[in-house]
Amino acid sequence: MTFSKRILSVKSSPTLALNAKAVQMSKTGKKVLNFAIGEPDYPTPGVIVDRAIESLKAGRTRYTPSGGGPELRQAIVNKLLRDNDLTFDVNQIVVGSGAKEILFHTFMSLLNEGDEVLLTAPFWVSYADQIRASGGTPIIIPVPEVGGMPSLEVIESYATDKTKAFIFNSPNNPAGYVLTEIELKILGTYLAAKDWWVISDEIYEYMSFDIPHLSLLQVCPELREKFVLVNGLSKAFSMTGWRVGYCAAPKELAALVKSLQSHSSTCIPGFIEDAAVVALKAGLPLMEKDIKKLRDRRDIAIRTMKKLDGFKFISPRGAYYIFMDIRHLLLPGETSLSFSEYLLEKHLIAIAPGESFGAPGYLRLSYAVNETTLLDGIDRLQKAFVAER
Ligand SMILES: Cc1ncc(COP(=O)(O)O)c(C=O)c1O
Repeated sequence: MTFSKRILSVKSSPTLALNAKAVQMSKTGKKVLNFAIGEPDYPTPGVIVDRAIESLKAGRTRYTPSGGGPELRQAIVNKLLRDNDLTFDVNQIVVGSGAKEILFHTFMSLLNEGDEVLLTAPFWVSYADQIRASGGTPIIIPVPEVGGMPSLEVIESYATDKTKAFIFNSPNNPAGYVLTEIELKILGTYLAAKDWWVISDEIYEYMSFDIPHLSLLQVCPELREKFVLVNGLSKAFSMTGWRVGYCAAPKELAALVKSLQSHSSTCIPGFIEDAAVVALKAGLPLMEKDIKKLRDRRDIAIRTMKKLDGFKFISPRGAYYIFMDIRHLLLPGETSLSFSEYLLEKHLIAIAPGESFGAPGYLRLSYAVNETTLLDGIDRLQKAFVAER
């Protein structure tokens, strides 16, 4: 049997496998604490749910335009102006089934066989596999020894004449870093001198706890001609299962992304569009209480972990993850993947291995769980660090 070489190069995510195993173990009655999930634990706000129900009852159950209906795209244009001080035309906006689909179609629209895309580790797992499936080559820039984003000198050392695009994600999953205005300016000025596409994934925008989120485009408008701003409602409004993501891009690229969607998922459902408009119009104030809760949990987690031995991490400023360096804890021959399997089997804690993020030797703990689970989990983790294995 022969299959597509491109698709064979796509690897399944170790995090999803771990999560599935954790769910399976829970079903057999084991008290597994799950820190591997990438979604908020609080519900979608009632006003959004109510609008979807109302809309369903009113019969918004048919196909909608590919790339999003006019009302939804206008709501996104308004949101980008209100939150990010960025002006776009509606024909620059494409809505899809999650930021994931939008990113996939963006890579497929941009990449030719052999094109390279720079990815700074740690990075969200799907970027690399979507790039491979689109015929491109992800060029992975390793995690800097000091954490955070690699320096421009290091990034430059990975650039070649085949570099087509650079992916940027702040607030960052999994590292939790958020670039300051000055850092954005420095990065943007460097990128503006290149002929690359810049794909800026801003899906954790509302989860920037210490400094306000700024889009790289806001700080460096000169990037606009080759800039793709990606965002979505999954994280901001706890709407992971609703599947609403979007991009704002130059109109020629937006047209290609939309055309691909018209041949794959076609559109998102009308009742979800209507609910998404309510969410976008309400914006951050609707989520403020939940986001404060997340920030409080982050603070509790950091405070607790700093008092204990073994935890090595940079305090995150955004998203809802703590990215731990465990290289000093691994036994000879052990990897963060095998260690995460051991944590699940022996200590009943599911925690994503760094291998999922192009960063072997690290673990990602999601603190979007209740406080008791969080503290219990940190306690179990510390015991696991010192236990014999
Ligand atoms: C950095 C990042 N980008 C994009 C996504 C995709 O989000 P969605 O497809 O739910 O909109 C995720 C989801 O975990 C993510 O962490």
